[in-house]
Amino acid sequence: MGNLSEIKRRRTFAIISHPDAGKTTLTEKLLLYGGAIQVAGAVKSNKIKKTATSDWMEIERQRGISVATSVMGFEYEGIKINILDTPGHQDFQEDTFRTLTAADSVIVVIDVAKGVEPQTEKLVKVCRMRNIPIIVFINKLDRPGKDAFELMDEIEQKLELKVTPLSWPVGMGSDFRGVYNMYFKNLKLFNPGSQVIEESIDFDNLDNPDLENYIGAKAEILREEQELVTGVYPTLNVNDYLDGKISPVFFGSALNNFGVKELLDVFIKIAPKPIGRKAEERYIDPSEDSFSGFIFKIHANMDPNHRDRIAFVRVVSGVFKRNTNYLHVRMNRQMKFPSPTAFMAQKKSIIDEVYPGDIVGLHDTGNFKIGDTLTEGEDINFKGMPSFSPELFKYVENADPMRSKQLAKGVSQLMDEGVAQLFTGKANGRKIIGTVGALQFEVIQYRLEHEYGAKCRYESINLYKTAWFLSDNEEQLEDFRARKALQIAIDKEGREVFLAESKFALDMAQQKYKDIKFYFTSEF
Ligand code: G4P
Repeated sequence: MGNLSEIKRRRTFAIISHPDAGKTTLTEKLLLYGGAIQVAGAVKSNKIKKTATSDWMEIERQRGISVATSVMGFEYEGIKINILDTPGHQDFQEDTFRTLTAADSVIVVIDVAKGVEPQTEKLVKVCRMRNIPIIVFINKLDRPGKDAFELMDEIEQKLELKVTPLSWPVGMGSDFRGVYNMYFKNLKLFNPGSQVIEESIDFDNLDNPDLENYIGAKAEILREEQELVTGVYPTLNVNDYLDGKISPVFFGSALNNFGVKELLDVFIKIAPKPIGRKAEERYIDPSEDSFSGFIFKIHANMDPNHRDRIAFVRVVSGVFKRNTNYLHVRMNRQMKFPSPTAFMAQKKSIIDEVYPGDIVGLHDTGNFKIGDTLTEGEDINFKGMPSFSPELFKYVENADPMRSKQLAKGVSQLMDEGVAQLFTGKANGRKIIGTVGALQFEVIQYRLEHEYGAKCRYESINLYKTAWFLSDNEEQLEDFRARKALQIAIDKEGREVFLAESKFALDMAQQKYKDIKFYFTSEF
């Protein structure tokens, strides 16, 4: 099997962080190591945060740029690395959740001064739900920040991760002297502003008095702290990391390109090779001969004259080949793709063969929706494309009765792209759009008008949360359905959801209907 060697040399991961922690900077430095870019500043960040939230046209423009940075592939030491970019703006958090389904591991970037921030907490929670292996990179050590032990505690408590430091800082801020790499047992000295990559100095044994020659009085502190570290934290068991049970931690400064190579060198050694995925029917192993993959992201073209979209497919098994017939399982239709796109650094190019772990972009004229499966013919459906209970809700109404077909098509396609979720009231048929952020409402309205020639109007709705529900107790279900008839809607997959008006209403329902289970993510 020729593709086994190709599979083994691939690492596909996502970098996640709270905005401003340094995700873009770290990505850029990693690309520099891969020779994928030549100069710093080349990565046009996919971050939207610097724009006022109301300026969403600018956001859409930036999202256009972000197609190029959606996946950044590069070669390093014979390893093919695929970095999956995740949007920084919290209104696009669902995009991030979906991107995580295509990643085999993640690197979490934390700002040394700010510690664990709210968005990091949310994202890591999703990773934990899926047991995704996590490496933590504590960034901005060139600035004053929290004590390293304090940070370890914070990560353990807030992120509920068991940690094991693989590097340890020597000083911090203006006093920052470098990091001791516990994995390779060497010391790396910090030389601010220098773009020259300094050699590391081997220190198998920290008792070596030579240590003083490099870091002076800090040598003794490092020895003491190392004694504590080895006493408190377990040594890394790679299998525990791969099972998502323990997270290695690194310290550095992405801006100064410090500690990044160390992270990358350890990463390629321990990070998981492409892993298989569960389909509803069975588990699919990457080494299987037959091609299979799933769509985790759809990117629409901003240009109204080219209403094509790019569907991003994560290859799970086999080899995806250009101009070959594949089965679009949901539509039960054969399709072939004359110009599949591969992503290397920021260049897109047409590719003939794509291996497990890789991402391929397919031109789509509206046939795909997020979560769709493509195979060589087998009738399987990959599962686990998460939807979360949205945070904000509005009724959507047709504002131009002559264009109701266009509106229906537009809404349906935007939902397929995962822009928002649509619920239809079971009793009255009214359509409700649910989103994670306020921006999406404007995006939807604008895109319906400019891409589909349809007009919509929103009406407010008093809604706290939606909850999917299931029960074996038919009697309770029937009673619940009868009493809450006006608060039950159907989602796009035809599943029932409870529209809870308030926390109180939700609590009451949970208390009264003990045999009904309410779910806030669609993965149940
Ligand atoms: P993000 O993608 O996670 O949102 O963060 P990004 O990399 O854009 O970094 C946010 C800010 O933090 C940037 O500064 C960046 O230069 C800075 N930064 C990143 N890594 C380090 C580091 O190791 N040390 C220090 N001191 N700063 C770091 P900015 O002024 O907001 O933006 P820019 O004008 O420099 O792009």
